[in-house]
Amino acid sequence: MTLRTPLTELLGIEHPILSAPMAGVAGGALAGAVSQAGGLGLVGGGYIDPDWIEREWAALGNARAGIGFITWRLAEQPAVLEAALARRPAAMMLSFGDPAPYLGRIRDAGVLAICQVQTVADAKRAADAGAQIIVAQGADAGGHGASRGTFALVPAVVDAVPAVPVVAAGGVGDGRGLAAALSMGASGVLVGSRFYATSEAQARPEAKQRAVEASGDQTIQSSVYDRARGYAWPSAFRLRTLRNRFTERWHGREEAMLETLDEVLAGFGRAVETGDLDEAPVVVGEATDLIRDVPLAGDLVRRMVQEAEMALRHGVRCIEQEET
Ligand SMILES: Cc1cc2nc3c(=O)[nH]c(=O)nc-3n(C[C@H](O)[C@H](O)[C@H](O)COP(=O)(O)O)c2cc1C
Repeated sequence: MTLRTPLTELLGIEHPILSAPMAGVAGGALAGAVSQAGGLGLVGGGYIDPDWIEREWAALGNARAGIGFITWRLAEQPAVLEAALARRPAAMMLSFGDPAPYLGRIRDAGVLAICQVQTVADAKRAADAGAQIIVAQGADAGGHGASRGTFALVPAVVDAVPAVPVVAAGGVGDGRGLAAALSMGASGVLVGSRFYATSEAQARPEAKQRAVEASGDQTIQSSVYDRARGYAWPSAFRLRTLRNRFTERWHGREEAMLETLDEVLAGFGRAVETGDLDEAPVVVGEATDLIRDVPLAGDLVRRMVQEAEMALRHGVRCIEQEET
């Protein structure tokens, strides 16, 4: 059995698995490893640091990859779009903001345009504006997201944009999630949190270990880290991380936090530098329940595909039976 879908056909890949363009975490090593294993890795253009992007793109070597940007950030630095297109990525993904001003340029450059959306209405708007692949992201996701859960959003988006391959994101942590996404009519999955805890991801080893140990029960969607860092995120989006001392202290008390912002920022900076994860964020979503080790990214791709194939053939309980 091979999991061929409109997504694998369009992207020319073997497995319907994309690794998310995680800001500061998904560099060339991770994206390249996912692509070499038959998925497609996306480099995290994130908050846009041109030097970081150049270095990570070089780290890909000969591996194919895409790149993702935070749309409202791109609006502040449009030249970065041209530089990225000149590198001939396999695809460019835009999330969090209106993609319409950019889609024509991306398509004209011969690059596949992927839009990540959080509502059915935005899926329709993205399709009308020319998105060639739509990622339906549920609020279970690690990192920024909105409010709808993945399980109802994905089939609704599949129905709303029948001409466009839809990719499910948010809460996919193993082959059961991939099988479920395909069963809901999606053409594949985009996975962030699970790849955060792989050898190639640029997260601290201690942060990966926290992801291994944590339950999804311990995550929270909050604006405290964005407010503290002064990032102008549109109000629809909040950041899902593990709960820690920082979120416990400030979530719901953002105004009080802003009153002592200099102090908060200095403390935050120190925490990031020293790796104090009670204060600095561990950015994973509800799928952290399913993170039990820190494998090589390519092995994870192969494992997810095997599990999904087994789940689709026999039902998910067989995964556990065959493992024991
Ligand atoms: C550490 C981390 C950083 C992320 N950074 C970005 C980003 O810069 N741009 C983006 O479009 N999505 C980002 N995301 C969200 C992913 O694109 C994706 O929607 C999400 O990871 C899917 O849910 P999952 O984490 O449950 O797999 C990030 C996710 C994580 C876990």
